[in-house]
Amino acid sequence: MCGIVAYIGKQPVFPILMKGLHRLEYRGYDSAGICIYNHNRLNIYKKRGKVSDLEEFVKDKDVSGTVGIAHTRWATHGEPNQHNAHPHYSQFEDLALIHNGIIENYQTLKKELIKQGRTFYSETDTEVLVQLIDYIRVSSRISLTEAVHQALSQVVGAYAVAVMSKESPRSIIVARKGSPLVIGIGKDEFFAASDASPIVEYTNEVVYLEDEEIAVLSLSAKGKPKMEITNLKNVKKVPLIQKLEMNLSSLEKNGYPHFMLKEIYEQPQTIRDSLSGRINMELNTVALSGVIDHKEKFLKARRIIIVGCGTSWHAGLVGEYAIEELARIPVEVEYASEFRYRNPIIYPDDVVIAVSQSGETADTLAAVKIAKKNGAFVYGICNVVGSSIARASDSGSYMHAGPEIGVASTKAFTAQVSVLMLLALALAKEKKMIKKSSLEQIVRAMYELPEKIEQVLKKDPQIADVVKIFTYSRNFLYLGRGYNYPLALEGALKLKEISYIHAEGYPAAEMKHGPIALIDAEMPVVVIATNRGNYEKIVSNIQEVKARKGRIISIVNEGDTEVKALSDFSIEIPRTEAILSTIIACIPLQLMAYHIAVQKGCNVDQPRNLAKSVTVE
Ligand code: F6R
Repeated sequence: MCGIVAYIGKQPVFPILMKGLHRLEYRGYDSAGICIYNHNRLNIYKKRGKVSDLEEFVKDKDVSGTVGIAHTRWATHGEPNQHNAHPHYSQFEDLALIHNGIIENYQTLKKELIKQGRTFYSETDTEVLVQLIDYIRVSSRISLTEAVHQALSQVVGAYAVAVMSKESPRSIIVARKGSPLVIGIGKDEFFAASDASPIVEYTNEVVYLEDEEIAVLSLSAKGKPKMEITNLKNVKKVPLIQKLEMNLSSLEKNGYPHFMLKEIYEQPQTIRDSLSGRINMELNTVALSGVIDHKEKFLKARRIIIVGCGTSWHAGLVGEYAIEELARIPVEVEYASEFRYRNPIIYPDDVVIAVSQSGETADTLAAVKIAKKNGAFVYGICNVVGSSIARASDSGSYMHAGPEIGVASTKAFTAQVSVLMLLALALAKEKKMIKKSSLEQIVRAMYELPEKIEQVLKKDPQIADVVKIFTYSRNFLYLGRGYNYPLALEGALKLKEISYIHAEGYPAAEMKHGPIALIDAEMPVVVIATNRGNYEKIVSNIQEVKARKGRIISIVNEGDTEVKALSDFSIEIPRTEAILSTIIACIPLQLMAYHIAVQKGCNVDQPRNLAKSVTVE
């Protein structure tokens, strides 16, 4: 939520900031703004709307200069308008600041600053922070760096900030707590951003700032770069420089009309990558280093608690079914936001698995911290390398799905499920709960997943055609049983978030306990009917829908006849092992949501009110 980018060096700053904002726009797109130092002043330009609106707005402005900061906003405090857009000035325009996060005690601080004669021009918590820094700096006659230290010690909440000053234009101060911030080290230049995407084409050397660390990035008069990191207690820190592994082309649409479609089509490859090195075709076995290295923790686990939000929570539910079925370890799946506040019972012999694409979701990160505080072993399943959750976990496995830019999660979901299935198999193997022949069979099926996904992708034109008549439906119901129940939830979430059509996912048998009242001839019901175990049961559920004139779109296995005969439309997918079926069956659901949204004219990559990385509560 909110993206920040900063640059100090010798290159023209404007194109670097604008390109960075475009890359970070998935984090929020309510407004965008920049501040560039030139002609002895800090020049702020900001605009409500998208980064392209800002670009248009600054066309006739002087944006020369080599030092600057920029921000793309997902509104929390104050509506999305020009006043509330970042950067914010201090009272006399001596400082400019951008912020990602929430300052929780901003009201108290604001009242005090007003008493001290400060005037505010926005409703944001961010303006309070820049005014506070400036007030401390001026009233105590201390350096900007010291003022930033003191101000950040007073604030409660989460922040990633970048501050510029008119007096010291050869330096930028950045700091973080709770919100992500990465510094790129170039030749005679520094970059800072919410993630590495604005940095990757300039340097692959980065430092991930830790919580409560402050970095002063400066250039000497001769242009020599210097980075000094301290924590809030003023203790000097030695930066840990890491190599960035990110491919620039993964940040482009590469000819696809939308990132979401590109990411759906990438799934054969992302599944290959998430399984690579973890399954062995010759021995037909699985090896997940995170599990092998901490075998004792898993084998002694009283239970496993999976925490996540949204799509990641859905993947967690699929994980629960598989781990309980194969490894016979009790599993609970919790919304991270509930887990963190409901005073949960956590035993030291619990294993907590945190699932998160971004690795930055505030609630999931908080859940990890609570689990660790209670002595549980935390295993992170994240996509973004070096992200906060990955770093806060005791161990884990990356998903290797590559950058996901479309706000609706697609390839991350299938990669999350793949890793969770590997985990379930690895645990079952270690606990000797699975027969060698069954393990071999599932591993072989895992190898076949990418090819089977490719076969489903070939049905894209058919899927686009099927959903045409449902473009203006006002409600959708998604039903599934067993592994397909979490998938019903995921299918409904995909549709509602990008097409704004109300959709609900239900376990098929629950329909009779309420939702069946909704069914009439106007109600499309998507049924995922690929299970073999409870096939007859789902056939009965479909009949119940048909009897009330509901219209059935079914996802069935190739060769199915019974469900197909009852359905208005069917999409056939290749058969696979039950525990892997969601990885294939979710592809038509993603494509259905995508085509409905496109046909409705919605912005599928940047749906209204959403941001990809939810770094605030
Ligand atoms: C839905 C979606 C969200 C995320 C959720 C968690 O398409 O993308 O529901 O799954 O915000 O995000 P991560 O996985 O980054 O923790």
